[in-house]
Amino acid sequence: MRRRLLVANWKMHKTVAQARETVRALLADRSWAQPELDVAIAPPFTALAAVAEELRGDGGIALGAQTMHWGEFGAFTGEISAPMLVELGCRYVILGHSERRRLFGETDEIVNLKVKSALAHGLIPIVAVGESLDEHKAGRAKSRVTSQVRNAFEGVDEFDMARSVIAYEPIWAIGTGLAEDPHAADEVMAAIRDIDPGLREVQILYGGSVKANSIAAFVAQPNIDGGLVGGASLDAASFAELIRAAHTKAATA
Ligand code: PGA
Repeated sequence: MRRRLLVANWKMHKTVAQARETVRALLADRSWAQPELDVAIAPPFTALAAVAEELRGDGGIALGAQTMHWGEFGAFTGEISAPMLVELGCRYVILGHSERRRLFGETDEIVNLKVKSALAHGLIPIVAVGESLDEHKAGRAKSRVTSQVRNAFEGVDEFDMARSVIAYEPIWAIGTGLAEDPHAADEVMAAIRDIDPGLREVQILYGGSVKANSIAAFVAQPNIDGGLVGGASLDAASFAELIRAAHTKAATA
């Protein structure tokens, strides 16, 4: 039985003070907390230590980073490595987000190096994949996404694949308010599970304009285990509402 997982991707939002405030607000009202549903927050690097401190001892919310370098240390100005994230208490790291691929030149090969480094250091990679609008219109979503997943896990064994997380985020759905149809997203995820036995029971999240009023329809699908949430995770009350909505369906689906 796969667990549900909701991950807040705060992107380049929130100062340390704002991050602390949001986490405190989220922890003040625990009505969203459910034993069978995991929650993680991925703040900017600068707020990781403060968020870790706010979450300490709580156990209900895990910490994640939004990217990392694949090396352990070295002359890579501006970069952050897996051991640095582990030291801060990170459990997850988002890798290959479409904004990283599109704006910062991350290729499938780079994502693969990062996935291997994350796994080698005990981090759970949340590997983000997704097709562009043109690819979507041309009916190439499945082939694009399965090729990204294959490349991301090149040389990774079944055991490590199984403990990873994949986030299917159609690029055209990110931050646009235009979410993919849940059934269509589910079909792409079914194709991901067919790639390799190691991916058969992997946790797969949907991402792209997920809101409190749409998450239930996504997690009701057989292959969708949760969400990677950008905009709707920034406000504590709206993220709490989204988590509650995901659980309602989890219990009845
Ligand atoms: P969004 O972002 O929920 O704001 O569309 C999702 C993501 O980029 O992970």
